[in-house]
Parts: sequence; C-alpha cells; structure tokens
Amino acid sequence: METGPGKSRVTIREVAERAGVGTMTVSRVVNRSGYVHRDTRERVEAAVAALGYLPNQHARGLRSRRSGTIALIVTDITNPFFTTIARGVEDTVSAAGQMVLLGNTDEVEEEECRYMKMLVQKGVDGVIFVPARRGEAALELARSNGVPVVVLDRRSDAPDVDVVRCDSWGGAFELGRLLCHNGHRRFTVLAGPTGISTSDDRVEGFSRAVEEFSPGARVSVRHGRFSVRDGSELMGQALEEANPPTAVFAVNNFLAIGALTAARERQVRVPGDVALVGFDDLPAQLVTFPFLTVSAQPAYAMGVEAGTRLLRRIEDPSLPCEKIILPTQMVVRESSGGWLGSTPSPS
Ligand code: RIB
Repeated sequence: METGPGKSRVTIREVAERAGVGTMTVSRVVNRSGYVHRDTRERVEAAVAALGYLPNQHARGLRSRRSGTIALIVTDITNPFFTTIARGVEDTVSAAGQMVLLGNTDEVEEEECRYMKMLVQKGVDGVIFVPARRGEAALELARSNGVPVVVLDRRSDAPDVDVVRCDSWGGAFELGRLLCHNGHRRFTVLAGPTGISTSDDRVEGFSRAVEEFSPGARVSVRHGRFSVRDGSELMGQALEEANPPTAVFAVNNFLAIGALTAARERQVRVPGDVALVGFDDLPAQLVTFPFLTVSAQPAYAMGVEAGTRLLRRIEDPSLPCEKIILPTQMVVRESSGGWLGSTPSPS
C-alpha cells in the first residue's frame, strides 16, 4: 500500500499481513511485552519500517493504562555522579520502550512534592527518586496514586519501595582505616547537610574506623551543602584552625573539589601538608590527571539496577520490595599520601 501525506494511516492489520503474523504478535513486538521469537520480531520490525507504522500512543496508553514514560528525580544533575546514574537508567529503560523525564530537587522537600504531583497527574508509569531525607510526603503522593517508586542513592525504610544505594558506611570506613594506617591522628570531615543519609552514613563509617584504628584521635565534622563553594569554605576554616587537621575526608565529589581549591589558594600542599580523601570518583574522561584517593560509587550500575527494578515493578506491582546495597571501591591515589609514622604501614 502506498504511504505518505494524505494517505490513510497504516494499520496494525496491514503490518500483520505484511509480516505474515497475527495482530497480537505485532502488538507484542511494538509494546515490547511478552515473548516473540527473534526471527518473527525481525519480520515484524521490517514490516513496521517498510510501512512507516506508528502505533497510536494515546490509544495504547488508554488500553494498557501505560504512558511509556518513567521519571528520574535527582537532587542535582550537574553532579557527574547523577549524570552517570541517569545514563544507566536511560540505557536500561529505553531498551524496554520507556522514555525518561528528568527533574532536579536541590535537596528541597517541597520540590520533591511538586514534582511528584506533576508526575502523578501526567500518569507516568513509575518514578526513580533521590529523596533529600526520608521523602515521605512525596512517597505518600506516589503510593496513594498507585505509582511505583524506586528510591535511589539514599536510605528509605518504607516497606513498599525498592531501594538501590551504595554502602556509604563501608566505603567511608575503608578511607578512615587507610588514613589511620598512614599514621594520622587529627581529622576533619567535610560533610553534607545533617539528616541526609549518604552524608550521615559516611561520617559515621569514617568515625568508627578512627575509633577502631586510632583510638583517642580527634575527628571534627563541619557541615555544609554538597557544593564546591561549601567544600572550599569548610576546608578554609579547618586549615585556619590553631591546630589544623593532618587529614581531611570530603563526603562527596563537589566537597572534595572545593577542599582542593581552598588548599591551593593557601599554598597548602596536598598531600604534603594535609592528606585528602573523598567519596565519588570523577568520570575518567573529565580528569586528565587522576589525583584524588576516593571511595568510588558504582554510579552507572546503580542506574541500571534502579531502572531494572522499576521495570519489574511496573510489570508486577506485587513483587516483594528489596533494599539493594552495592559495594564501593577504594581507589588509592596521590592525595592520601604515604604514612607519617616511622613504623612501616601495616600490610
Ligand atoms: O556526589 C553525589 C553523592 O554525594 C551522592 O551519594 C549524594 O547522595 C551525595 O551524598
């Protein structure tokens, strides 16, 4: 049949006839739902392409009550950690025919609710959500409207949501142990806002390591926002103390970059004068000379896992919820320096 402007719309029946299959098979291929043998899928896709068939999204949405769209709500997409997560999410859900809407909340709970209301009204199929704290108000909006949610990066004890995050406590503990083995006894932690689980867990894990490996050592904690500016300000304050730290732990990438800036502005050498470790590695393609010792989060894998969990939940809302905690990886580089003590560092 000829197609083009002014011609009638290609129907699913014409695609089925051209591919030599039933209309239900065409529907399964187009909706990526249910099993279709690869050869059959290829014949249907060839017929769809040849005829220029476009499924009626609106009708499809009404029939299956599906929009074919999910949302990813993060706190700050300018952070390469969240950019990498977004890529993992999009690669996963687009393969299943889902589009991704993106929103930023800047750790503001009112923004979380504003976005969740819009998403419920738009009828998205599901939401992957990074709550500032517990995010209960936004979660309740989704829950009361039957919208599946996966909580990402942060903790949630809500029994009806899947959680995908990394082991912040364990990653920070490893960094604390490394600095103690290097002989440090005066520490400052540059932390995020109190009540944000990733920051709180990292402060606690690091402090526990110091208690265990350098009993009696001093750990002072300075809180700011997850920003380069606050990292620089907090580091400046620490370096201007009468008895400044010999080692600093920045609980995320932006705080670590700010700390480095402050040290360089004061001609303070890292690691010569002060050792520095951080959380989150920076994407290799952005860093010409990898310098910072970090606990690296598996950001892409977290995005893939969150996308996979949400797709499963959309297909079967009755699935039991899971709290998935992925391990971090400590990458030791120049910024943490060697050991200070005369005794050799334990193996
Ligand atoms: O840099 C982003 C990371 O730091 C995320 O884990 C976020 O929660 C913040 O803690």
